[in-house]
Amino acid sequence: MKAMSEITYKPGREPHSRETRRIFRNIDRVGYNPSIECFIEDGGYETLKKAVAMEPAAIIDEVKKSGLRGRGGAGFPTGVKWTFIPKGNTKPVYLVCNCDESEPGTFKDRFIVHQDPHQLIEGMIIACYAVQAHYAIIYMREEFPEAAEIVRKALAEAEERNFLGKNILGSGYDLKIILHRGAGAYICGEETGLINSIEGVRPYPRIKPPFFPAAIGLYGCPTIVNNVESLCQVRQVLMRGGEAYAADGSTRSPGTRIIGVSGDVQRPGYYEIISGSITYGELLYDLCGGPKPGRTFKAIIPGGASAKVMRCDEVLKGRNPDGSVRKMTIFDVPMDLDSIAQHGSMSGSGGVIVMDDSRSMPEMLRNLNRFFAWESCGQCTPCREGNPWMLKLSTRICEGKAAPEDVDLLKSVADNICGRTVCAFGEACSWPVQAFTTKFREEFLALTKPINALKPHNPETAEARKYLTRED
Ligand SMILES: Cc1cc2nc3c(=O)[nH]c(=O)nc-3n(C[C@H](O)[C@H](O)[C@H](O)COP(=O)(O)O)c2cc1C
Ligand code: SF4
Repeated sequence: MKAMSEITYKPGREPHSRETRRIFRNIDRVGYNPSIECFIEDGGYETLKKAVAMEPAAIIDEVKKSGLRGRGGAGFPTGVKWTFIPKGNTKPVYLVCNCDESEPGTFKDRFIVHQDPHQLIEGMIIACYAVQAHYAIIYMREEFPEAAEIVRKALAEAEERNFLGKNILGSGYDLKIILHRGAGAYICGEETGLINSIEGVRPYPRIKPPFFPAAIGLYGCPTIVNNVESLCQVRQVLMRGGEAYAADGSTRSPGTRIIGVSGDVQRPGYYEIISGSITYGELLYDLCGGPKPGRTFKAIIPGGASAKVMRCDEVLKGRNPDGSVRKMTIFDVPMDLDSIAQHGSMSGSGGVIVMDDSRSMPEMLRNLNRFFAWESCGQCTPCREGNPWMLKLSTRICEGKAAPEDVDLLKSVADNICGRTVCAFGEACSWPVQAFTTKFREEFLALTKPINALKPHNPETAEARKYLTRED
């Protein structure tokens, strides 16, 4: 296994000095391909050998000790999730790798499955062994046809070498992993929608609780759903040991994180950093090279489309070590799960979307509204009906056909979706609307006209408007 200093990367893909490439060690590496030979030469499957010699419960303990939190968006502690499998369970346990990667602005899992699939497979085998699953599924979105072939080939290679199949490495443990391709829908990334999709029914998310998949999941059996990056991190935990892993980076969300930066920066792309080791300012100005020439940063969405937008000139309150309050901006906030949550947003799946002063915030929101209106699965009325309404309202605002009241109406639609739906899509679609219309209210209002200056859509509207404006 080569030291990092001996590895060459493709031009323009070299790690920044503040990066720590662990999961992305082999991504865009010169001379590396997705074959099992390359992976083994790089130390691949050595951690599995260590794992199958351990008791499954000891692996769960290591993962709990590591403090690893899921990288799929919610940041749920991985080891804790695994312990939700009911004690004394007699049903089969399933493990599903969530490779749907549908959150706009997120692009990390796709690099792993395209370029280093064995890293994921090794992490999955370790996780399956820990929870004693004998059947596991990689749920991959339809839009990754090339990766599907790569992963299929990698699974066959792992079976040939007895890293998968019967009696893995003489341990007495059997495991089959299959690839399941989704049809390409955002809601199939939600773990219970995903489970329904595997079962061959409409991917309507299920109500949680009581149906947490870890207790009642696929075919009514305990099912662990973990993100691609989370499963690769499991391999890192076992490689390093839980305590050593926990010692790296932020106390409450340790380890490395892959951040995908898109939008108005000089160097967009992926960056693997130790959680909390840099601030948003350092990410954008140092790693990403700052704004485009002649531009200034205006806003950041810190964790994929559903995270609340942050204004770059927003004054935030931070705490000094002595407990006193200090003023700061988003650029001073460390990049870990909890710091950004304290300021009302989230780092979600690690997709940072950057907007400079050339962007119209109502247009940005309309774009997000279009996505969520298209992707709502339609099961709950507030989400099914509310999303097209939010799109209509933001479109009306962008086209100069809205009254100032419409801005509040738009926000009130979001307020009435949030917290009233079966799945977290309800929050995902409402949070952007709430944050954009509140934080950039003046931009929305600037596009509106007093209600009497607007052309009525039809005679009834004209009549109704009389009452609304008390002109009668
Ligand atoms: C609407 C919606 C879409 C989601 N899409 C994804 C996705 O594409 N990939 C993913 O890993 N998790 C996604 N999640 C989160 C999953 O439901 C689940 O929490 C995650 O796969 C658990 O993995 P982790 O514990 O390793 O983070 C989504 C959640 C929601 C509500
Ligand atoms: S919140 Fe939206 S996406 Fe989620 S179940 Fe309800 S209708 Fe479907």
